[in-house]
Amino acid sequence: MEKPELSAHQKCVLVCQNTSCLNNGSGQILALFENSNLPENVSIIAAECQGQCSVGPTVRIIPEETWYCRVNPSDVPKIVTQHLWKGNRVEEKLHPRIHLRF
Ligand code: FES
Repeated sequence: MEKPELSAHQKCVLVCQNTSCLNNGSGQILALFENSNLPENVSIIAAECQGQCSVGPTVRIIPEETWYCRVNPSDVPKIVTQHLWKGNRVEEKLHPRIHLRF
């Protein structure tokens, strides 16, 4: 999977817009991110399949590699405020097979 070139302070929020995620509402998720008040260093990207189709909508934040799964509309303001503005991941939405908990 290709990654866009990012400077040290930039973040990209990749919102999958492929079939499975679209069928689970990722079009609305993308629109909500695009219409949110975001820090200057954050870009929102309509992304191709991220390989996590069974648990979409998939939202992946790079370059740090945070993966959110089953993102629903009410999660977006939380991700924006808590993660993108304050730097704290939204633990309950982390993809459990990527962010393992012991
Ligand atoms: S369709 Fe979204 S991860 Fe595959």
